[in-house]
Amino acid sequence: MFITLEGPEGSGKTTVSKRIIEILKEKGYDVIYTREPGGSEIAESIRNIILDKKNVLMDSKTEVLLFAASRRQHLVERVIPALKEGKIVICDRFLDSSLAYQGHARGAGIDAVYQVNYYAIEGSMPDVTVYFDVTPEVGLNRINIDKNREVNRLDLEKVDFHNRVREGYLILCDRYPERIKKIDASKTIEEVVCDAMKVIEEKLKEKELCK
Ligand code: TMP
Repeated sequence: MFITLEGPEGSGKTTVSKRIIEILKEKGYDVIYTREPGGSEIAESIRNIILDKKNVLMDSKTEVLLFAASRRQHLVERVIPALKEGKIVICDRFLDSSLAYQGHARGAGIDAVYQVNYYAIEGSMPDVTVYFDVTPEVGLNRINIDKNREVNRLDLEKVDFHNRVREGYLILCDRYPERIKKIDASKTIEEVVCDAMKVIEEKLKEKELCK
């Protein structure tokens, strides 16, 4: 089963995913955690180019293509092999990040970015996507408190950009209600873990993979 976690900056998905993985492992599932952009050696090299604070001149279409290239490499090298081995793959960010960040917030167009990614992923869509919803006020405040977190090129964007990212995600929630499940990520970590687990367990049940 292919699960993706999505959300704006500071939505807590990375912190919550660690707990989700522990819970799934305790239940006896074979689960791997991975992330985008990156998650394999080549894909991490592409990540470094995309997020390098020096690359402020990067063209918006170049950004779309690099994210799609990184996605393709990671999918082929890590995600598909793990799914073939019957593992649960939990991926921190996937296609919807490109649709919300590049498609909507950057203005490249959700449909145009989808087309590029369609070529890159060849139909390998997540079974379920958990969307961690927070306002930029809450999210950016959280990341500013976390002094250990690396600051990347996209973090340097203004609040207006982050507002559009969230707006993009909310459009996607309306567009793909069957696949994308929205949870309120402004709650406490334990509450968010619980809500995310409910979504995952429901999908496991639907796919008759319950333990
Ligand atoms: P991270 O902070 O979750 O590691 O993600 C790195 C940044 O890249 C984050 O600001 C979101 C952004 N991003 C996109 O803009 N498009 C994408 O397709 C992906 C995967 C990430």
